Amino acid sequence: MTTDNPIEQTLAQLGIATADGVLELFKEVQQKFCEQAARPFPDQESWKVFVVNWTGRKSGVLSQISDNWLKPAPPELKRVVGQELNKLKAHVETTLEEKRREIEAAAEQSSQAREKIDLSLPGVERVLGTRHIIRQTFDELQRIFLSIGFSVVEGPEIETPYYNFEALNIPEHHPARDNMDTFYIEGARDGHLLRTHTSPMQIRTMEKQPPPVRIVVPGKVYRRDNPDATHGYMFHQIEGLAVDTDITFCDFKGTVDYFAREFLGPKTKTRLRPSYFPFTEPSAEVDATCHVCGGSGCRICKHSGWIELFGAGMVNPAVYGFVNYDAERLSGFAFGMGVDRLAMMKYGMTELPVLFQNDVRFLRQFP
Ligand code: PHE
Repeated sequence: MTTDNPIEQTLAQLGIATADGVLELFKEVQQKFCEQAARPFPDQESWKVFVVNWTGRKSGVLSQISDNWLKPAPPELKRVVGQELNKLKAHVETTLEEKRREIEAAAEQSSQAREKIDLSLPGVERVLGTRHIIRQTFDELQRIFLSIGFSVVEGPEIETPYYNFEALNIPEHHPARDNMDTFYIEGARDGHLLRTHTSPMQIRTMEKQPPPVRIVVPGKVYRRDNPDATHGYMFHQIEGLAVDTDITFCDFKGTVDYFAREFLGPKTKTRLRPSYFPFTEPSAEVDATCHVCGGSGCRICKHSGWIELFGAGMVNPAVYGFVNYDAERLSGFAFGMGVDRLAMMKYGMTELPVLFQNDVRFLRQFP
């Protein structure tokens, strides 16, 4: 069988009988090799195919020339075919080696280029969050009280009725429980509930430590309120308690004044309105002059000039009985601030829910 490919035929089949014919034949083969070697090799695979095509032991071009041209060559041509084949082999081998180095160097270069880190490029910037305005308000409140000798303690949000009510002088069926309806833990043996205020920590603190006591208690509290613009099922309070042998109503009023000036500005004045809490006696609502109009009356203070800040009072001696404090010797005051409403008031917000919706357009206003 004859084919178009000269290397698959013998010299006799090709009709070549002279040394010149042999030289001509090898020239053509070498030219073909040079053409192929000059093509680009886009990947490892195309390179391998090329190498095997020429140097493969079984059917590579060089092997075929050896088998088809050299071995069956007539004696007078054997020498020249052998010489030419050796030259071709040497040329192919050096060319392949050169090419291989070139390709490796190029691969090395491109992988270096790929892995190179450009330090002048701007980095990936991670967006930093901010402290929530409630957290910021807590920090501000704590700073004020820490500066006058209070320390910060925290307590459990799941409480027993004893700490949330009884020990605070709110017996079962007492009407003061009405506005403190809350969530009860299903199946809890002691009727555990979500605390309705931070006041239970007054009891827990006095149970644990002898007087004097000066603490503030930041935390979450819960009530079964119907949600509206200013109510939710959860809000934040900061409780205050000071108990010692010589605390008077003047200390109470002085502390309240100091707080109001620090929180709302140096011109702020306060007033006390009579109120009622079972665990303070007397009890008061603390008002401050409106931080917007300064007391002359505006839309924010509903034209009264005053803003309600928080509930407070002198510790009811009945409470000391629950913690084995000497009611004859000791006196003190307590207060409980709604942190959310203080923040809303100070920063001019009208809607409570936005505080908890995590809308960045809102949060970004308080960097
Ligand atoms: N615990 C009261 C409330 O949540 C506030 C308060 C605390 C009043 C301490 C007086 C003293 O309404």
